[in-house]
Amino acid sequence: MERNIILIGFMGAGKTSVGKKLAQKTGLPLLDTDKLIEQQEKTTVSRIFETRGEEAFRKAETDLLKSLLKKKESVIISAGGGLPLKEENQTILKKLGLVVYLKIQPDTVLKRLKGDTTRPLLQGGDVKERVTTLLTRRAPIYQRAAHITIEADYKTLNQIAEEITTLYTIQGGTK
Ligand code: S3P
Repeated sequence: MERNIILIGFMGAGKTSVGKKLAQKTGLPLLDTDKLIEQQEKTTVSRIFETRGEEAFRKAETDLLKSLLKKKESVIISAGGGLPLKEENQTILKKLGLVVYLKIQPDTVLKRLKGDTTRPLLQGGDVKERVTTLLTRRAPIYQRAAHITIEADYKTLNQIAEEITTLYTIQGGTK
């Protein structure tokens, strides 16, 4: 297994915030798949969904993951919420390193993402229903795609990052 730490989970699970904390603790750089795609495509995720559709975005995610396999140095990767859904991506994720699922309940998503305009899948209509439906469908997939699951609703960033670094160290990564 490569020595990366990959954070997966639903929108609002705290992948970026936990990633930043982990970066501080481990000294490893943090990569965010959404941000990398935005840099590559020179536009926002919302704009890609709008102009080229979700499929184009999903293809960009898989291409990016494949390119990350070639990286020599260890990194922390915050993966977009829909990235682990494709089977092909799940295989790549597990090859990349320790895959951690940050599990949260629908109410936590709604609380954290109230008023958010950057997630195209959560715009308009009954957001509560959409979050619940998507999360129910995705939860078992995230679980399968990950090596470990952390219940993240009521833990501090520090607690979550500690749990992850402990496991990472046990499994031979640098602390
Ligand atoms: C998505 C999650 C988003 C982003 C895109 C689609 C999803 O990333 O990739 O809006 O399908 O769950 P975050 O999980 O970082 O919000």
